[in-house]
Amino acid sequence: MSSNKKILILPGDGIGREVMSEVLNIINWMTKNKSVSFDISERLVGGIAYDKEGDSISDTTMQEALDSDAVLFGAVGGPKWDNVERHKRPEAALLRLRKEMDLFANLRPAVVFDALADSSSLKTELIKGLDILILRELTSGVYFGKPRGVEKISEKEEKAFDTQLYTTSEVERIGRVGFDLSRKRSNRLTSVEKANVMETGMFWRKIITDLHKREFSDVELNHMYADNCAMQLVRFPKQFDVIVTDNLFGDLLSDCAAMLTGSLGMLPSASLGSIDSKGKRSGMYEPVHGSAPDIAGQDKANPLAMILSFAMMLKYSFDMSEDAVLIEQAVQNLLSKGFRTPDIKKDNQNAVTTKEMGKAVVEELNILSGK
Ligand code: IPM
Ligand code: MG
Repeated sequence: MSSNKKILILPGDGIGREVMSEVLNIINWMTKNKSVSFDISERLVGGIAYDKEGDSISDTTMQEALDSDAVLFGAVGGPKWDNVERHKRPEAALLRLRKEMDLFANLRPAVVFDALADSSSLKTELIKGLDILILRELTSGVYFGKPRGVEKISEKEEKAFDTQLYTTSEVERIGRVGFDLSRKRSNRLTSVEKANVMETGMFWRKIITDLHKREFSDVELNHMYADNCAMQLVRFPKQFDVIVTDNLFGDLLSDCAAMLTGSLGMLPSASLGSIDSKGKRSGMYEPVHGSAPDIAGQDKANPLAMILSFAMMLKYSFDMSEDAVLIEQAVQNLLSKGFRTPDIKKDNQNAVTTKEMGKAVVEELNILSGK
């Protein structure tokens, strides 16, 4: 038996709770059928934490996240909390987790499953077989740069400002993750910024270029301006493999890449920190979709992005790639067999519920492992 792995579960708001409970079934399956056990604890985060604990993430929950081996995050937010002050809003919890756990590397894969290739708004031939990875810097840039604020200039005028700021080591460490990931895939990396307009863009390009020369000259490196990248993603997405970019451009481009697949309910993500002196790398895993308040509590949400996020956790936090592949395979088989939640179904197809989809994944895991 390997030692217990400490997972903190943060279901959050809206459909976060429903999709998370399907993951718990998968975790139970793993505990029963694999020589692994997990210590699971659960806490509130987001709007529900604000309502019950007075803040979107309490200090206790934050500390538990820091002490855990990995965090599984559902989704936060909803119209109910639209008017809450900014530092207590549901999204603030997400930003605090990212910053305090130092989760600087955000991996957002955009993969098109064969069975869903015709759900994209792009022509099927453009996206069939698409498998790209957006690597977004997550703990710096304009999201966290100081100074920021609103100040009075005169009686009639105010000014608002944010600061886009990167240091050498911040760009180097995300660049390094980008080159490493490229080596494990097709050995191609596209680095994206606005070196034509921004100081930070020129700086980013120079650091990535130097790093490439110094340590990764075997990888094919391209530089691209962010606006062009947005255009190229919808023109001919298969030209890309790994894209590395800053926090804000990564926010935009990853939404764009996600939508290419036509199925937001299918996309997982991982946010990783650096490896500490004990060899531990912090990690948080969450679906790309949000809390979808409009369908919350109706057993309609697609749990697959959440389940695939758990698979990413197995791969990146626990070095259990084989089990991760097993879960991914189960999901693919179900799609081929025609299992569809409402978000990915066509008019002539029947929809299954959240619970039915979760149960089907467990059954498929049994079939695949000969149980
Ligand atoms: C994301 C989201 C967040 C972000 C919001 C909810 C703060 O859009 O994870 O992409 O802007 O980073
Ligand atoms: Mg976003």
